[in-house]
Amino acid sequence: MSVDLSIKFAGIKFENPFTLAASPCTDNAQMVARAFDAGWAAAVLKTTSVEEEVVELVYPMMAGLDFDDKKVIGLQNIDLISERHIDQVEKDVRELKKAYPKKVVGASIMGQKKEHWQSLVRRLEAAGVDFIECSFSCPHGMPERGMGSTIGQNAELTERTARWVKEAARRTPVSIKVTPLVPDLPHIAHAVQKSGADAITAINTVKCLIGVDIDNFVPYPTVNGKSSYGGYSGAAIKPISLRCVAEIAKAVDMPISATGGITTWRDAVEFLLCGARNLQVCTAVMKHGFRIIEDLTDGLSVYLEDKGMSSVEELVGLALPNIVEHSHLSREYKPVSKINLETCVKCDVCYIACQDGGHQAITLDEKRLPHVDEEKCVGCSMCASVCPVWECIQMVPR
Ligand SMILES: Cc1cc2nc3c(=O)[nH]c(=O)nc-3n(C[C@H](O)[C@H](O)[C@H](O)COP(=O)(O)O)c2cc1C
Repeated sequence: MSVDLSIKFAGIKFENPFTLAASPCTDNAQMVARAFDAGWAAAVLKTTSVEEEVVELVYPMMAGLDFDDKKVIGLQNIDLISERHIDQVEKDVRELKKAYPKKVVGASIMGQKKEHWQSLVRRLEAAGVDFIECSFSCPHGMPERGMGSTIGQNAELTERTARWVKEAARRTPVSIKVTPLVPDLPHIAHAVQKSGADAITAINTVKCLIGVDIDNFVPYPTVNGKSSYGGYSGAAIKPISLRCVAEIAKAVDMPISATGGITTWRDAVEFLLCGARNLQVCTAVMKHGFRIIEDLTDGLSVYLEDKGMSSVEELVGLALPNIVEHSHLSREYKPVSKINLETCVKCDVCYIACQDGGHQAITLDEKRLPHVDEEKCVGCSMCASVCPVWECIQMVPR
């Protein structure tokens, strides 16, 4: 069976859902052209601004969070918007649309006032851009100038600014990139919907401080002896972005482009199931290169075939009915831990977790094999979470 990976987002047909997010990966036409050749369906060019906006970057601007033996499970950046202003980006759009008419070219913009936003939109539209993304969400650097997440954290500013953009965009769809750093994201999503914008991109990076050098007391990334809060991205933020996408999908009927931690085809499936129609990737590409598109598209195709589905459209939102208010979860369901002693490697981690973080239901016998006392086990599943062996511990109904 052949599967169709194409999907419509904001009225535009994408050959597959995979899009490069606004970032260093999309900061010039040559890089985007290489990504298109590798198989990416679309790219959002790095956020640009009017010529008079001063953009001065600092270096180093990146610091990774390593955990156990894994490098960069999360990434902090103190990058700003692009140093390349609209005059260069409009040329990139023209060049890319000419060379790749079937690929989707989006462009991200940020302005200080109405005239900036509207002039950016008009110039990009004249250059032939397919869609415009507005960053109301950069958590560092830009808020100091009243830009970025300063807008996205306020529903009125969000609605007003998005209206300006929509007013100027005569035929180009507009997506508003929102920040997770708000107490009530559905409230912001409603503001976006009221503005008339066509779509929502969720989320931008999460404001963070990734670590401190314990010898000289300066946090990372260290710029000549000082540091600053930055934006956190990569696999570590996936649970936050997945929650945000699901919350928005349940709150408003708008197409969602997901970004935040998408690294593997499994992540891609999860975001589609939670209501996304488009998937943007940045950190995984910065770490592994444009070539990951092959794993993403192959994995998604094989998954759809295994499920007997012929199109990626069929996946969108399937998990949403299964996300309910906490009070609606069953109080009658009482699972219990079941350990497969055939595959147990006697590492003790389930025993330790249950003794010191659970209900002391697991004991070890003289061969160091773990056994569950069903009377004491409440079914919390911490043992299954820490067990290093695939499906050795499962939570089953009593
Ligand atoms: C170094 C760097 C620069 C970025 N620059 C921008 C930007 O200019 N505009 C924007 O909207 N998002 C920017 N982002 C955020 C990404 O587009 C993306 O939303 C975020 O990194 C989450 O996706 P990821 O976990 O796949 O990286 C940047 C991210 C990184 C790591």
